[in-house]
Amino acid sequence: MENSFWIDSTKNIAPKFKSLNKNLNCDVCIIGGGITGISTAYKLSQKGLKVIVLERDFIGSKATGHTTGKLSSQHDVFYKYLVDSKGSSFAKDYLQANENAILDIKNIIDSENIDCDFEFQDSYVFSEEEKEIPILKEEASIINSLGLSANYLESLELPLDIKACVKFPNQAQFHPLKYIYGLANCIIKRNGEIYEKTTVYDIEKKDNVYVTRTDNYTVSSEYVIVASRYPFMKLSGLYFLKMYQSMSYAIACKVDSHNFSGMYINTKEPIISFRYAKDENKNILIVTGNGHKVGENKIQENPFELLENIALKLHPEAQILNRWCTEDCISLDKIPYIGNLSESMPKAFVATGFKKWGLTTSNIASNLLTDLILRKENHYKEIFLSKRFEPIKNREELTNMIKESVSSLVIDKFKIPEENLKDISNGKGKIIDYNSDKIGVYKNENGKVYAVKPICTHLGCLLEFNNIEKTWDCPCHGSRFSYDGTSIYSPAMKNLDKYEL
Ligand code: FES
Repeated sequence: MENSFWIDSTKNIAPKFKSLNKNLNCDVCIIGGGITGISTAYKLSQKGLKVIVLERDFIGSKATGHTTGKLSSQHDVFYKYLVDSKGSSFAKDYLQANENAILDIKNIIDSENIDCDFEFQDSYVFSEEEKEIPILKEEASIINSLGLSANYLESLELPLDIKACVKFPNQAQFHPLKYIYGLANCIIKRNGEIYEKTTVYDIEKKDNVYVTRTDNYTVSSEYVIVASRYPFMKLSGLYFLKMYQSMSYAIACKVDSHNFSGMYINTKEPIISFRYAKDENKNILIVTGNGHKVGENKIQENPFELLENIALKLHPEAQILNRWCTEDCISLDKIPYIGNLSESMPKAFVATGFKKWGLTTSNIASNLLTDLILRKENHYKEIFLSKRFEPIKNREELTNMIKESVSSLVIDKFKIPEENLKDISNGKGKIIDYNSDKIGVYKNENGKVYAVKPICTHLGCLLEFNNIEKTWDCPCHGSRFSYDGTSIYSPAMKNLDKYEL
């Protein structure tokens, strides 16, 4: 898979940080160097706390570097759902928290002088179906009753057959990586530390100190924040029972001009979202969406095709520069979890379940977590309460947890008979049954065979091969492994068992 547009367009300015190479102490250890971890480290360092950020890969390399780059309180058609399920006061607070986040990010950009292509833009949720008209009319009226002046419209200057649409004024777009690189500079100037290529395996509580363990070193701190998209610890807070992960796709195209203003998303599956961006003197169109639950990739032969068709409808001259995909955590009630990690770890915090709207939510999390650590009241604390619990029932990983705790790396030397491999074409992967075992087999473009045990090292679910990305994907909580079994997406941290052929 190619780099995302965001990563490609900043490869010459991305800061580099070394791996953790000694044991350290600090006030707050933050696990995860995406926009949530970096924004929270920025806020805490501004308050004079000593922060250390530990990032498994490089900062912004996962969800932050693979997003659409929209800052909006328009989270699909969401506010009727919120009013019906949580009440008007809750919906109003949720809306206000996200509106505040856009302005807070703008203030940070101005006060720190961060050059990150920030622009105010209106945001539109639209439908091309007649039957959605009453739904969008009602959504606009609910949003107005919550205090934001949204407009209901029945046409847009787009080459699409728009039947209805809701416009949120004064939303924004920016370059998410340029933004977090700016924040990272501020953190370093305030004596904070950032380590990349540093994988955390465990957090242990010893007396009143949290000891965060990587391969060879530890960070001891009074507080710890898990900002790693999906909390990687197996049991704490039982997040594996109250979230699932969704995969989305994205393309960036070179286009001749910017023909419209605003940022757009449609109402119904498959969801498509688009906006413009700039890269030096190139005009760029970004189209994202066509998501599905992680591990269900078999339903789509080419998930980029739909995005490419939309790009060509908007710009027949569009030339695709980048294709990428990303994962997002979604909580069961669609509200993020921000707060205490678990009852037994009072000074450990979490922010997760952002439902694909992590750019504004990361700012909300940074303020809320900073206030929790400083013991300051925060009006939005109850909205995002992390301990609320409505578990997904009957999940197979519950039984797997016991088996998994005794699993270990097994490397068998054996030869899979050609007969079992003949149905797998080059460049494809599949699970085969062999000697009453399941074996995950991938044949590369030259026919070289890789074989793994296709059982997720998080909580033991059976993996699916993703023929687009050439990865083994877990349908339970979205861990992903490369074709040779190397762990690339948490919550699983351990590589798959491999078969030596
Ligand atoms: Fe949890 Fe696979 S079992 S990610």
